[in-house]
Amino acid sequence: MSSPSNPAGSGFVPIQLVVNGQVRSGACEPRKLLVDFLREDLGLSGTHVGCEHGICGACTILIDGFAGRACTHLAVQAEGCELQTVEGLAEGGRLHPLQEAFRKHHGLQCGFCTPGMLMTALDFLRTHPSPSEEEVREAMSAVICRCTGYQGIIAAVMEVASDMAEAAAVR
Ligand code: FES
Ligand code: FES
Repeated sequence: MSSPSNPAGSGFVPIQLVVNGQVRSGACEPRKLLVDFLREDLGLSGTHVGCEHGICGACTILIDGFAGRACTHLAVQAEGCELQTVEGLAEGGRLHPLQEAFRKHHGLQCGFCTPGMLMTALDFLRTHPSPSEEEVREAMSAVICRCTGYQGIIAAVMEVASDMAEAAAVR
């Protein structure tokens, strides 16, 4: 028998996971990509789809705290996982410092790569709180940007890293 959470009646698998701090659930075919589940089933279209082959990085999100390509995971593999998408960055109407820095340094033009860039930078700064510019360049090369030439992106990430280091120093 079909139900709202199992619309086809068969072949759909129930999924429950936490996205941006909220428990979300749905049901989809086992072959459905995680990025499509986020966008189509959960309405979180901030995560973009580019190559669908793990190359461009546009679909990068945090999966259990680590950056991952949502196009190379199946939605069913995220069962029980904790995800963060670009929608989870701003808090209480305030942009995340990375978002502010990207805006300030013109780290985006068309914005297609930006969600993946932001989530990649978030994961990178968590593990590299005091990076060199070379390390930032290498990390951000994980996401392809066809517009900006990367200069503003690198400047934005470097600025946030520097702010984090200053904040840690006065603690
Ligand atoms: S859409 Fe996932 S890496 Fe390109
Ligand atoms: S801002 Fe257009 S692809 Fe990066």
